[in-house]
Amino acid sequence: MTPFDPNALPAFLQTRRWFGGKGLPIKAIQVLEQVVINARGDRARDDEEGFTLAVLEVQYPLIHPERYLAPLKVDPDGTIHEAMEDDALGRALFRIIREEKRVPSAGGVMRGEIVGDPSVLRALPVEPGVRRISAEQSNTSLIYEDRVILKLIRKIDIGNNPEWEMGQFLRRNGFRYTPPLLGGIVLEGGPVHSTVAVAHQFVPVESDGWSWALEEMRGAHLSPGFLAEVKKLGARLGELHRILASDPTDPLFAPEPIQTEDLQRWAASIVGELGVTMAAAASSVPELSRRHEELIAHIQRLATVKPSGSKIRIHGDLHLGQTLRTAGEWLIFDFEGEPARTYAQRREKHSPLRDLAGLLRSFAYACASLELKGAPLIDRETPIRKALLQGYLSEATAPGLLPEDDETFDVLLGTMELEKLLYELRYEIHHRPEWVKIPARTLMELNAQKEGPRPA
Ligand SMILES: Nc1ncnc2c1ncn2[C@@H]1O[C@H](COP(=O)(O)OP(=O)(O)OP(=O)(O)O)[C@@H](O)[C@H]1O
Ligand SMILES: [Mg+2]
Repeated sequence: MTPFDPNALPAFLQTRRWFGGKGLPIKAIQVLEQVVINARGDRARDDEEGFTLAVLEVQYPLIHPERYLAPLKVDPDGTIHEAMEDDALGRALFRIIREEKRVPSAGGVMRGEIVGDPSVLRALPVEPGVRRISAEQSNTSLIYEDRVILKLIRKIDIGNNPEWEMGQFLRRNGFRYTPPLLGGIVLEGGPVHSTVAVAHQFVPVESDGWSWALEEMRGAHLSPGFLAEVKKLGARLGELHRILASDPTDPLFAPEPIQTEDLQRWAASIVGELGVTMAAAASSVPELSRRHEELIAHIQRLATVKPSGSKIRIHGDLHLGQTLRTAGEWLIFDFEGEPARTYAQRREKHSPLRDLAGLLRSFAYACASLELKGAPLIDRETPIRKALLQGYLSEATAPGLLPEDDETFDVLLGTMELEKLLYELRYEIHHRPEWVKIPARTLMELNAQKEGPRPA
């Protein structure tokens, strides 16, 4: 096995879809850890062809360093290639999990682990068929025999990826509306402790929730069947939160009462985001500056309401694109949290209403984008909001989970929606200028005194 030439790494990374630092100057790349495996998923001997899984720390002159997982194939002349395109590596990774292998790495060990009943993984052949997904994604996923999907985590951080932690918790505590976690690969015992890959059951998906909702909402009225499904999604989210709040003995998941300090911290952070967003929007949405003070006052209400309800582990990046439709049911997936945040930030407990705000904003977006495309102008948002909240409240029933008083509930939810709106505006300014008007219009019309309707 030829060692790779680290000098070739910057050019290699610049061509990778999953590399977030594209176009930025790179100061240095350090190989923090590496493990070389053969096609059987064991450590490759020196005289054997192998794949190198390298943990790279990319240092930039201006921003914090980032860590990436790079599976590499090295030609005899030292040239490096992306190895995930090789089915042999896909099968080797599968085998590491299926046989719970321990592979020595440069500084520690790479270890496969099965979660739950091993028979699902072991029912597959040792050398299963492999295919790739067509969807754009930030990680790299492989599908085995249409039964198992493995996601290799690209941008890694020290510690457990939230998807690995959440998947185990949800499985242990019986949440049925997500594809079950089957296993994973972790690096440990050396300079890097991190989740390398997670494997879930592959479900036959009819559509993702976003495309499905757009299709259902196009017409001149919303069907009762559609609204019943929206209510059901709310109920699934309510059950998710009830289960996430169900184990006071697990310190990583134990619900904690929301304190005034939490509300103040969240409010301060959203005021900060407002400042950044205002600056970014100065030329594209100049009229927004008129609303600066009013929006600050809106956010500040969060710091002054009576603290009530719990903070818990949440999905953290919930929108319709993180839901799947299968056999008339909703599945919620991709529990890795917001990729731009550190693992520690993503694992922080928060108000469950943050996830609800994510779904509400996602439906609002779907409504607005349909209107932009010429769909009939009807009020879709109000009935959807009502149905989603009704479903949610029917299942998010754990004692102390949600704020007791309506004011705290409404202010928390309203501020979480505002936080999403600010994120949306920044995103659209940088990526889709023609959609800037969707969040901009809502921000201009937002009425600080009146939150959305809350069904009785
Ligand atoms: N268990 C599953 N069964 C069927 N399809 C799945 C499953 N999990 C994921 N998929 C499909 O694979 C795609 C990518 O999965 P996922 O969103 O987890 O990857 P990601 O790299 O985190 O993507 P993103 O960059 O959007 O966060 C999904 O959009 C979905 O279509
Ligand atoms: Mg993701």
